[in-house]
Amino acid sequence: MLNRRNFLTAAVGVAAATGLTACAKDDGGSGGSSSGGGGDKKITLGFSQVGSESGWRSANTDSIKSAAKEAGYNLKFSDAQQKQENQISAIRSYIAQKVDVIAFSPVVVTGWDAVLKEAKAAKIPVILTDRSVETKDESLFVTLVGSDFTDEGRRAAKILEKVLEKAGHKGKVKIAQLEGTTGAAPAIERAKGFKEVMDAEHKDDWKIVVSQTGDFTRAGGKQVMAAFLQSNPDIDVLFAHNDDMGIGAIQAIEAAGKKPGKDILIVTVDGVKDGFVAMSEGKINAIVECNPLLGPQLMEVVQTVKDGGTVDRWIKTKESDFMQDQAKDALPTRKY
Ligand code: AHR
Repeated sequence: MLNRRNFLTAAVGVAAATGLTACAKDDGGSGGSSSGGGGDKKITLGFSQVGSESGWRSANTDSIKSAAKEAGYNLKFSDAQQKQENQISAIRSYIAQKVDVIAFSPVVVTGWDAVLKEAKAAKIPVILTDRSVETKDESLFVTLVGSDFTDEGRRAAKILEKVLEKAGHKGKVKIAQLEGTTGAAPAIERAKGFKEVMDAEHKDDWKIVVSQTGDFTRAGGKQVMAAFLQSNPDIDVLFAHNDDMGIGAIQAIEAAGKKPGKDILIVTVDGVKDGFVAMSEGKINAIVECNPLLGPQLMEVVQTVKDGGTVDRWIKTKESDFMQDQAKDALPTRKY
């Protein structure tokens, strides 16, 4: 995998990296416009979204659509319904339509080289948003606009220390992990970051006793947590890779007659409104934020790429962590 920590922080010349010059292209039949791009044609951006699996994803989609509108771009948007083959078809269709720039959030990390080579051959720059890909050929995409998922995993482990301390939990900790979509960057990297801290600082006390994918969905979280509780009724902690799976798990915990946030301490990632509601009700103990509002940054990068400017290889999102006692105050200000 193109390790996120190995991304170059130095600016990379977009034209050099892609073999492109900032030439104007067909606008895909949307009609000319003097806005969005400083040239005499609207920029046409083809965007392939992962799906609509979570509250985070809905907020991300809204952010991309509204930012594209604001920037005056012609956005061609498709929802891949969590299927890689749908994303590959969408990207091929954007290539055939000769869009100016392609952006996508890859559902999984592997299997992109062939289609990205086709985009490169067509001289269409590709920008990754949210999630990364695994490739040996760094020239296949210009940049990644998104979070540091490994660090989110580390932050989840660090905030769990505070949660355990606040709950007065001492000694052994049996942890259940609800993983995101198998093969997806946030699932791989959040698990990795969490384990890194666990192995380095809590090797003797913390143990992940069960870990399985809930596919980043509420239904998945509920179903898998119900099975966890059957096989491991004495779980102390749930680490869910997103709020939606955590909320689904809360339903399963309550159905099993236990109190989420008390009998089972819960740490999730994302920070969507529903997560904050659950946290203000005392059912989630802490949330590691993953910001979905990537639209404005993405549109800026698209513009820079079109202008032949330079961008960093990884444009990281700024994020915070929240403990339960901050939930009520933070809730009214949550934007998604
Ligand atoms: O890639 C970001 C992750 O994808 C979010 O954490 C999750 O909610 C979404 O489905």
